[in-house]
Amino acid sequence: MPAIEFSGLSKTFRDFFGRRSVQALDGLSLSVDKGQVFGLLGPNGSGKSTAFKIAAGLIRPNAGSVSINGHRPGTMAARRATGYLSEDSTLLPFLNARETLRLHGALAGLTRTQAAATADELLDRVGLKDAAKRRVKGFSKGMQRRLGVATVLVGDPDVFILDEPTSGLDPLGAVQMKELIAGLRDQGKAILISSHLLGELENVCDRVAFINHGRLLSEGTLEELLRETETHELRVSPPDKAAIAELEALAKQMGLNVISSRSPMRTLEAFYLRMLKHGDKS
Ligand SMILES: Nc1ncnc2c1ncn2[C@@H]1O[C@H](COP(=O)(O)OP(=O)(O)O)[C@@H](O)[C@H]1O
Ligand SMILES: [Mg+2]
Repeated sequence: MPAIEFSGLSKTFRDFFGRRSVQALDGLSLSVDKGQVFGLLGPNGSGKSTAFKIAAGLIRPNAGSVSINGHRPGTMAARRATGYLSEDSTLLPFLNARETLRLHGALAGLTRTQAAATADELLDRVGLKDAAKRRVKGFSKGMQRRLGVATVLVGDPDVFILDEPTSGLDPLGAVQMKELIAGLRDQGKAILISSHLLGELENVCDRVAFINHGRLLSEGTLEELLRETETHELRVSPPDKAAIAELEALAKQMGLNVISSRSPMRTLEAFYLRMLKHGDKS
């Protein structure tokens, strides 16, 4: 049984007068297993948040169904199993970070002592230890996002549904969030995340699906979707010019088409992260 299963999910939003207006989801099906990070990618307005809200039991579909560990969203069993982070997660502005997590602990049924210990452990885990006593009101978008994820972690759910967890985070924050998500996967949790930025989820997802207009365009592992099997890249070190010229000549002699031969470019993200790391050391 998959941890999360959408089958033939459709949702039409009607306007105030009940006239048919927007079809947000149009027969969306997908499934996420335990120990898997599944990324839902699509432009703004493609239906990602609508699908997640249905899975969290906040709205009902017009057709199709969702199952969370075999339970319907909205039931007690599904609620207990699910940790949902909405795209605009709302935190109480006058509480500080520690109080926020203690409150969520109390709501999840923890004792005072348990809630206090859990709050401190989670603050450390999401990198907000130093901001424990600061009011949420003054938090940056990225800090709010991290605290939002911490609130979801309080009840130790099996299934995570995180709507745009990396939105508003700087590259380092995004990397830390992805490390946290990978850690949850390694604990055997099922994680469904979304993004409208294509590169954002690349190095954390086991599977991805692209949607537009509420319909699935393609789905698969990154290997299946992105591997270019028509060409081959060979990296050598050191970049000895004479040896490389000989290799190229040999390749041509063997009837291969030499399409490119150059030093690879680092990504801007890799460059930035290296720069930060180097700066920390000095
Ligand atoms: N409560 C609502 N009432 C009317 N239309 C809505 C509502 N929620 C979402 N929509 C519409 O449904 C479509 C999908 O929205 P959404 O699921 O938020 O997309 P995404 O999260 O991919 O950006 C959009 O056209 C949006 O305007
Ligand atoms: Mg959205």
